[in-house]
Amino acid sequence: MRRAIGMAALGGACLIALAGFVTPRGPADVTSERLLNADNEPGAWMTSGRTYSEQRFSPLDRINASNVKDLGLAWSFQLATNRGVETTPIVVDGVMYVTSSWSLVYALDARTGHLLWTYDPHVAREVGFHACCDVVNRGVAVWKGRVYVAALDGRLIALDAATGQPVWSVQTTDPAKPYTITMAPRIVHGHVMVGNSGSEYGVRGYVSAYDADDGKLIWRFYAVPGDPSKGFENHAMEMAAKTWTGNWWKFGGGGSPWDAMAYDPETNLLFFGTGNGLPWDEKARSPGGGDNLFLSSIVAVDADTGEYRWHYQTTPGESWDFDSTQNLVLADLPIAGRDRKVIMQANKNGFFYVIDRATGKLISAEPFVPVTWAKGVDMATGRPIEIGDPRYKTAPATIFPSSFGAHNWQPMSFDPQTRLVYIPAQEIPGEYGTDDKFAYRPGQWNTAVDWDLNTLPEDPKARAAMRNSIRGELVAWDPATNKEIWRAPQKGPWNGGVLSTAGGLVFQGSADGHLAAYDARTGRKLWSSETYAATLAGPVTYTVGEDQYVAVGAGFGSVFYLVAGFAAPELGNPDNGRILVYKLGGTATLPHPNLTRVEMPRPPAQFAKPAEIAAGHSLFNHYCLVCHGYNAIGGGVIPDLRYSPLIGSEPGFEAVVLGGALKDHGMVSFASQLKPDDAQAIRAYVISEAHAGYAEAHPAAGR
Ligand code: HEC
Repeated sequence: MRRAIGMAALGGACLIALAGFVTPRGPADVTSERLLNADNEPGAWMTSGRTYSEQRFSPLDRINASNVKDLGLAWSFQLATNRGVETTPIVVDGVMYVTSSWSLVYALDARTGHLLWTYDPHVAREVGFHACCDVVNRGVAVWKGRVYVAALDGRLIALDAATGQPVWSVQTTDPAKPYTITMAPRIVHGHVMVGNSGSEYGVRGYVSAYDADDGKLIWRFYAVPGDPSKGFENHAMEMAAKTWTGNWWKFGGGGSPWDAMAYDPETNLLFFGTGNGLPWDEKARSPGGGDNLFLSSIVAVDADTGEYRWHYQTTPGESWDFDSTQNLVLADLPIAGRDRKVIMQANKNGFFYVIDRATGKLISAEPFVPVTWAKGVDMATGRPIEIGDPRYKTAPATIFPSSFGAHNWQPMSFDPQTRLVYIPAQEIPGEYGTDDKFAYRPGQWNTAVDWDLNTLPEDPKARAAMRNSIRGELVAWDPATNKEIWRAPQKGPWNGGVLSTAGGLVFQGSADGHLAAYDARTGRKLWSSETYAATLAGPVTYTVGEDQYVAVGAGFGSVFYLVAGFAAPELGNPDNGRILVYKLGGTATLPHPNLTRVEMPRPPAQFAKPAEIAAGHSLFNHYCLVCHGYNAIGGGVIPDLRYSPLIGSEPGFEAVVLGGALKDHGMVSFASQLKPDDAQAIRAYVISEAHAGYAEAHPAAGR
């Protein structure tokens, strides 16, 4: 098999040239030859990271440091969404394929933005309840005239690239379990590779490979072992099971590989990153300890068979939601006088890993932001050297980084010209403690950590200080020497994915509604444009005719603004999901959004006593915080409960929270977990937060 690929790679360029002459290609006619020789078609962006090495670097240089100041909007396309936009556009043969929230797919003319077709998989909105991190989608894969999308509800769907009509659809997950999918599939040798999400809720994560022709399952690799009494799927699971204790399989164990993949044609290895444990707290998950393979790991399998080849676990005995799903990048680097073929990751846990991609052996691991849970990684064992009691065994622990990660799904980029990686990094502390009352709740948020610790200080000054203490920055990092080369600070955390180009530029969007270009060598900001929406997705660049374009998805959403509304920039208008495309001399303008701030209405009178409000606060933290935010402060993605007229109405609130009146909008009933008194206690708590917010906005009126 491997030899055949090598030959295909050699012959690829001339085959393409011939094919180009003989028969004009249909849309999205992407093949192994084209993907393996992606550098021969620098004007296209045929897979999520542009090439199998997932560097998100483009050889295009028509837009460069000297002319980027003339970059202007060429066109924009309004997506049908008011939730997060995380799509990486795929562009091939003049057509752009993007996705929006709820897994909608659009085919657009890459030059004009004209809509060619759209496809809506009609995901049932209650599925959104199991999407920890917003109902987003990170894009499609294309192959031989078809477009592949993994829908939020676990379906993998093949569409006709010419029409958007479905060709086949398979359910890749058990719909009775709280699985979701947000990642872009990848295609190797005609196998569509896809993982899944859901480790906060109760799943056993895995990667599957499906036949691109007919959707037949080719192989599946589980991230964690199942019930040992039922036997193991393979030797790797048997090995992994030795690192677990207790009855983890009853809940699933987690480990869902929900985003990163890369492929190395030379070794035929497919790499993927695995997710956090279920529950987060190791003491609840694997009471006798153990590393819990393959949680929080980078795993290499044979791309054709899914057979285990190697793994490197970044966070043994994961206890902080430190998944290892941040994008994986392959590069060939001179390190300490040797040419090394490496795989790299800027991990959620704060360490930058450089690993030999053929063997899985660690080459280096150094922190790229302040890290307080470990003082380094022991190069002999490859294990982190923990400081103090970061596992909150004896007391709650505040550590850097947090579950938001020092780096999250927003992809970094590697520029082979500067030999630097550009990391969308952030500094956000996390407070962890054991939830003594934890009991597994089917289909619910099952982290076993004490969410009552995630309460903001009441004093407005202390709250502002906390808001100001969390940071975001773009870090240029030399992976060969583990040195920071430059660092561009940003207004806040949770900024966009990165693109680097041969034009000496690094493009990145930001949470405060901008797309900017930086000098790749110095970090000097050379250009910036207002996007009027959080711009978090990975940008891409491509050509049509003589023009080079830069494209990015923009749209408010994503987990940070569900949970941490207190730190969200005020951008107003939630109806803002767009694809934005720029070129030199572009003169299009963005429809100006409605940025008028909605005033918080005067809150209803408090009806409850302090003890009931306190009980409501705790219930809120355990059931509602994950979507409605710390201290009920909305981040602009879904309704801010403090503004809701329903908090003034006992039956109205109950109809939504227990009656499921808004279930078709993603707000399911909590009737099986909460009693009417509980719902009223939560309502009382939200009213108290509304009063606090109102007083802050109207200081003269007092409280
Ligand atoms: C998985 C995410 C999620 C969780 C968890 C969640 N909600 Fe919601 N909630 C939503 C979404 C999405 C909406 C908006 C529905 C719509 O668009 O109408 C919503 C809307 C609401 C509304 C209506 C607000 C309005 O004015 O329209 C209320 C009230 C509400 N939620 C209360 C709660 C309470 C109380 C809890 C905890 C017991 C909770 N929610 C947990 C996602 C969630």
